[in-house]
Amino acid sequence: MRIVLLGGPGAGKGTQAQRLSQQFQIPWLSTGDILRHEIVRQSQLGQQVQPYLEQGQLVPDELMIAFIRQRLLQPDTAQGWILDGYPRTAFQAEELDFLLDELEQRLTWAVLLEVEASILMQRSLARSRLDDEPTLIERRIQALFEQTLPMLDYYEQRGRLLRINGSQTPDQVEQQLLTRLNTSL
Ligand code: AP5
Ligand code: MG
Repeated sequence: MRIVLLGGPGAGKGTQAQRLSQQFQIPWLSTGDILRHEIVRQSQLGQQVQPYLEQGQLVPDELMIAFIRQRLLQPDTAQGWILDGYPRTAFQAEELDFLLDELEQRLTWAVLLEVEASILMQRSLARSRLDDEPTLIERRIQALFEQTLPMLDYYEQRGRLLRINGSQTPDQVEQQLLTRLNTSL
């Protein structure tokens, strides 16, 4: 199972990725969580990406593509993975497909958790992460509309997109997701 989970800040990507990862016993890779961790430990990658996360902006494609490439070449991902928050641009989506071709693997589904902007804001504000300040959440929502949602055509045209109503309770979202995955495999 190889799933990419897409959605805005607070859409529930992390919440659902963790559940799918347990259900299918495959790694959960959250690019946002990994980058925040790298910032805390001030690694070279952390220092490079810090200004972008602090502004609520996407990290440049080149950095993300190189990072995902080395990560998906690690042996723990051979049986599958849940990518939470990657890809986020059409360029990242294309490059992911090139990488999967090279690895002779195939994406199972791109899953979009659909949640309206006001709920995204409420959920993110209810949490208090390093990048959960109102202006930064607004910028992340803007990045969703301007850079990530246009990428959906890429998956839709390839018949690889599942849209899930992410405004329901976490259990309901999980149920809907598992049902759609089981019936659509
Ligand atoms: P990232 O960490 O991915 O941030 P995000 O997209 O803003 O998403 P969040 O992690 O805030 O939300 P989530 O969807 O995981 O929701 P969660 O389950 O936690 O990225 C951060 C930054 O990293 C980006 O801004 C960018 O700079 C950089 N970055 C990362 N990937 C990149 C890429 N590919 N390219 C370039 N840059 C990249 O839930 C949120 C809250 O809501 C929780 O409190 C949860 O309990 C609650 N909740 C969840 N589901 C529900 C529900 N169904 N009902 C009620 N409450 C719920
Ligand atoms: Mg998250």
